[in-house]
Amino acid sequence: MRNLPDVYRGVDALRAALAPLRQEGKTIALVPTMGALHAGHLSLVEKAREHADIVIASIFVNPKQFAPGEDFESYPRTEESDLQKLADHNVFGVFAPNAKEMYPNGFATSIQIEGPALGLETDHRPHFFNGVATVVAKLLLAVLPDIAVFGEKDYQQLRVIERMAKDLHLPTKIVGAPIVREHDGLAMSSRNEYLDAKERQTAIAISQTLTTARNALRNGESWIDVRKKALAALKLSGFATDYFELRHAKHLGTPIETSGARILVAAKVGTTRLIDNIEV
Ligand code: PAF
Repeated sequence: MRNLPDVYRGVDALRAALAPLRQEGKTIALVPTMGALHAGHLSLVEKAREHADIVIASIFVNPKQFAPGEDFESYPRTEESDLQKLADHNVFGVFAPNAKEMYPNGFATSIQIEGPALGLETDHRPHFFNGVATVVAKLLLAVLPDIAVFGEKDYQQLRVIERMAKDLHLPTKIVGAPIVREHDGLAMSSRNEYLDAKERQTAIAISQTLTTARNALRNGESWIDVRKKALAALKLSGFATDYFELRHAKHLGTPIETSGARILVAAKVGTTRLIDNIEV
């Protein structure tokens, strides 16, 4: 068992720890997370290591990206086991601030983003991307990493963060990492923990439907037919679908051709909302 990584609760302490490393010429990668780490997160750490000498992870359940009535209170918080997993993956340090450090009394600034944030998630969670963009900008400015890694499971989020980093001239390269799936295809997510046994069985349908739709598109079926069949399949499996859409892989607008586009889906089984996507 390795020593746990150092945990920094404040921005000043974190910056003081990173300054000498930077002076030595070490490159730094940041992997932002909300904790409840699984193999998907750990793959982001591995990706980060490919690009930098030192990996910092952050763990912060960001209240600004949850609307009232969403799962902020019940979101799994498992810091001790998260730190152990990060130690096993040789993470140098963990930035785990509390809400007061990130949003002290009087906090009055937020980032409002459009472009890739329009539609899809925003149609169902209008507060979400401004909350994500605000916290990720704060994390990037706190750490000033050379690169930061985000999973393609949250595909729209990845494109939103790329846009935000570009628009604000943040000096960090944003890197995407492929989706990690369970043996039956379910994309790994901290929210999978909410599924009971029956829902977990149902959940397989989401990746199966994406694969079927992708194959049908590749075989020349029209998107209108493919989408109609996919929505019916998800309904039959027990999902209530928020969206099942084909988008341009880069700007997330309507694609001119299907090749290289992405299908993105969000659907609820019981009270758990799952998202997934696939490249066409
Ligand atoms: O993807 C997540 O876990 C979160 O949205 C992120 C990027 C850590 C911001 O809170």
